[in-house]
Amino acid sequence: MKRLTFLLSGEHPKIPSSEVIASIEAEECDYEVVESLDQVLTVDTHANPLRLASRLGMAHWVGENFGISSPEYLMDSLGSSDLLDFLPQSGDIAVRVKRIKRYLPEINELKLAERVADEILEEYDYDINLENQENEIFILLTEGKIVSTIVRAKIDRSAFVERKPPKRAAVHPGTMQPNFARALVNLARTPRNGTFLDPFCGVGGILLEAGLLGAIPVGIDIDSELIEGAEENLQVSGINEFELRTGDARDLEIEKVDAIATDPPYGRQASTGGMELKDLYRDALPVLADSLKSGGYFCITAPSGLNLKKMAKNIPLEPIEKYQQRVHKSLIRKIYVFRRE
Ligand SMILES: C[S@@+](CC[C@H](N)C(=O)[O-])C[C@H]1O[C@@H](n2cnc3c(N)ncnc32)[C@H](O)[C@@H]1O
Repeated sequence: MKRLTFLLSGEHPKIPSSEVIASIEAEECDYEVVESLDQVLTVDTHANPLRLASRLGMAHWVGENFGISSPEYLMDSLGSSDLLDFLPQSGDIAVRVKRIKRYLPEINELKLAERVADEILEEYDYDINLENQENEIFILLTEGKIVSTIVRAKIDRSAFVERKPPKRAAVHPGTMQPNFARALVNLARTPRNGTFLDPFCGVGGILLEAGLLGAIPVGIDIDSELIEGAEENLQVSGINEFELRTGDARDLEIEKVDAIATDPPYGRQASTGGMELKDLYRDALPVLADSLKSGGYFCITAPSGLNLKKMAKNIPLEPIEKYQQRVHKSLIRKIYVFRRE
């Protein structure tokens, strides 16, 4: 087992760490949470850091952990750690200190980086090279703790920026940001070679993230023009194996899928075809539960006024997780994760 630390994005207080756990589960690996701190999660796991980094939407990098300590014991902790076992016997290293938010304001980041570098240089023959990306040591300051890591795999954040909705072949105002769409796909524990359904797919923002992960996307939308847009977006991204259909999420006949993640209309920009939102969700939930394999996960967003846990009471969907997110000033959405019984 390795002890891995994840530097999480600050875009949401809980979803980024839940995304990591869900991703480890999706990779069918064991884990134990060692410490969950603001934007910094440490777990013991057999999961491969590179595979996790290629999945995650709301993290910056995955590193191997060589110590979590309080500030006064940092040097002791470094001295007794396996840090030097993680590094090659010589070469370049870069030591960086990153403060999360305003934690540990008494620590000077630059001075601490120098102290840690000196400690390492005393033992081994390294050159300090801050341009070096290979042996990058990160000391994270968060919630009164110092977490020491060596970076093993970076998340390609620029690829998510490249895929932002306005840059796509087909555009629709209700589309969510790609890294958030990826997080939903991960919360649904989407297996890489499995089948993935978005029954309110619009121009396919969530389908795209599932497809890029290696899953086979199945998309349904009531609006045929949006289905055409989804087809264009998937093809432009090099995803060739998919199934798209114009249809109604309340009346589906499809083969059962491994995972579902979806962002139904909020009754604002996205159309409900004149239907009450409550009725749309109430009618769609049992149909979607039926379309999911037993043990599969289902991640769905909803406006804050709807209680999906209550709606799912007599449906074989076990509520697992629930989050809130402010979309803009007057719209708060909930994100639910259910497991098909
Ligand atoms: C918020 S948008 C989805 C956006 C999509 N997640 C994306 O990133 O592109 C909601 C979609 O639900 C579709 N829709 C509304 N009622 C539906 C129904 N009964 N069955 C299937 N799709 C429906 C709308 O046409 C709209 O495209």
